[in-house]
Amino acid sequence: MPAFGDHSSMNNWLSDISSEMALFGKYEVGKLLGHGAFAKVYQARNVKTGETVAIKAVSKRKVLRGKLMAQVKMEIAIMHRLNHPNIVKLVEVLATKTKVYFVMEYAKGGELSSRIKKGRFSEDLSRRYFQKLISAVGFCHLRGVYHRDLKPENLLLDENWNLKVTDFGLSAVSEQVRQDGLLHTLCGTPAYVAPEILAKRGYDGAKVDIWACGIILFFLHAGYLPFDDSNMTMMYRKIYRGEFKFPKWTSPELQRLISHLLDTNPETRITIDEIMNDPWFKDGFKEVKVHPFFDFEMKEETQSNIRLNAF
Ligand code: ADE
Repeated sequence: MPAFGDHSSMNNWLSDISSEMALFGKYEVGKLLGHGAFAKVYQARNVKTGETVAIKAVSKRKVLRGKLMAQVKMEIAIMHRLNHPNIVKLVEVLATKTKVYFVMEYAKGGELSSRIKKGRFSEDLSRRYFQKLISAVGFCHLRGVYHRDLKPENLLLDENWNLKVTDFGLSAVSEQVRQDGLLHTLCGTPAYVAPEILAKRGYDGAKVDIWACGIILFFLHAGYLPFDDSNMTMMYRKIYRGEFKFPKWTSPELQRLISHLLDTNPETRITIDEIMNDPWFKDGFKEVKVHPFFDFEMKEETQSNIRLNAF
């Protein structure tokens, strides 16, 4: 038996990647952390350094069949460009004939959504996580990167309960923007999708991320989603009309900020700069004189061992 992690979820896929990783001679693969349509994420350990990492194994066959190879390369390029304490770092990319492996920083605390399921957060705790989220999202936007699938499942926690944004699989960079200055791909997770995406108009990637941040902030402190319905059509109708109710424990200051985040009109929706100046957001954050995302510089291309043409 392999010596590392809980192997209760072991299957052919895992033994497949275990032997491939043994080929790389670098990582010992442990338990399955999560999976999506094209990829599975495993815990692993760097044999030499003992460092724990997360490895996302992407099936080339499935990606090619879905004509998504450009998207995978984009995800690598994006993660590589972002060096911020609240964004999961990409350590390296390995590839074989059949798979691409993203070796990433390991976030020991797991998904933020699992923590919220144990109980909603106080306004103070919600604010602390929201500040970190906005720091990461603002950092991305300044670099022309829009996440487009922000949700608590893509927000991880490290061993110090520090927030880490992950999964840039649906991200767009500003080069993809059409001549009208807007993005046109339909994407995201239903409960977090902004009304302008539902309207199938072109949309601004930054505004769509800000809408999702509004849903996340509501969810953190309410413990449930603002727009929810077992009937998808009804849910979309509520999103489109911006119909939601605050729980009775929401302060007027927080109600004001969430209403600005969940403004159905992207033109008048609050911007990152305005969020940073919002009284509820700034409360308990007064000593910070500079935008927190100005503190972190982009990684120099030359420092990296990540090669986009590795596969
Ligand atoms: N699940 C998905 N990515 C992860 C990561 N980087 N760390 C921990 N769990 C994860």
